[in-house]
Amino acid sequence: MAHARILGTGLAVPDRVVTNDDLSTRMDTTDEWIRTRTGIRERRWVREGETGVDMAKAASERALEMAGLKVSDLDGIIFATSSPDHFVPGNGVFLQRALGAGTIPALDIRQACSGFIYGLSLADAWIRTGQFRRLLLVGAEIQSTGMEISTEERHTAVIFADGAGAVVLGPEENPDRGLLAFDLHSQGEFAETLWVDSPGSMYHPRVSHQHIDEKRHLLQMDGKEVFRHAVTRMPESVQAVLVKIGKTTADLALLLPHQANLRISEMVQRALKLRDEQVYNNIDRYGNTTAATIPLLLDECVRGGRLHPGDLVVMTAFGSGFSWGSVACRW
Ligand code: COA
Repeated sequence: MAHARILGTGLAVPDRVVTNDDLSTRMDTTDEWIRTRTGIRERRWVREGETGVDMAKAASERALEMAGLKVSDLDGIIFATSSPDHFVPGNGVFLQRALGAGTIPALDIRQACSGFIYGLSLADAWIRTGQFRRLLLVGAEIQSTGMEISTEERHTAVIFADGAGAVVLGPEENPDRGLLAFDLHSQGEFAETLWVDSPGSMYHPRVSHQHIDEKRHLLQMDGKEVFRHAVTRMPESVQAVLVKIGKTTADLALLLPHQANLRISEMVQRALKLRDEQVYNNIDRYGNTTAATIPLLLDECVRGGRLHPGDLVVMTAFGSGFSWGSVACRW
């Protein structure tokens, strides 16, 4: 039975660069505070009118080109985002239309930071059924339009950012190549620790002036609590996925950790006793792009020569939900 392998990768980020100094002109913060606490130097934010689907389309076309495939070769689309262009329908169908794909299925998933890992697992399962051969998986987010750029909201405004990454997957017969194992979890008791309350169908109307006055439409985060759980759950999950394939951290060529905060990545690296060359981070240039962080890392590593055929790579993510997980992949 064939399982899934990544055939091509691509990324697309807005051309608008927002530096820490830019932010310090709009709120009480400093480049020094942001760099020391988060490792972020700059991030990308969309310009007015630029959409998540625009970025996803550009990333997808690059991934298809690397895979040597055409849009018409795709059998389905999975779109991971917690910040869709609209409430309904999801971004998947808008991407299907923008790419000019046939009437292939387009599925949206909303796992936020771990959305890309969950998406890989779904893609793998779809390919294993034999129902689908070539799938496009996108992780894309526009967080900048959901934030208030103010001193009151500075703990989120300096972290979150916009970007998109895509992969094309296809069937692989070699059991030791491609996506080898997954470890997925959720823990809803922490749902309100990192969330957007409104709009929501439990309210009538779904969003009101009162919600906006109370800032319930903005991303709300208990940063310390998220940090505490992230630094234990990600190492735990990496170990779990390695155990499933009978490997250890010594076998790992590369760990791609969700880019939430460089301090979190460094603590994950220490907990797993990994050498610097075994971990790749790019949060300094992109900030936290939620579901897009892993495909952004992956594309830079593939195009930058950091990943070679035969390398064992583990990708791990933790975020809103809480929801977290890892995938082990032989490149
Ligand atoms: N610039 C300057 N000062 C800031 C600031 C900013 N951007 N953001 C917060 N502060 C201030 C706070 O107001 C507080 O001041 P006070 O002590 O006078 O009250 C002080 O810095 C410490 O704030 P705190 O929120 O306790 O900081 P922290 O050390 O926990 O760092 C985060 C804040 C957000 C960087 C950190 O908690 C974090 O990264 N958490 C994980 C978040 C995350 O990964 N989220 C996404 C998961 S997918």
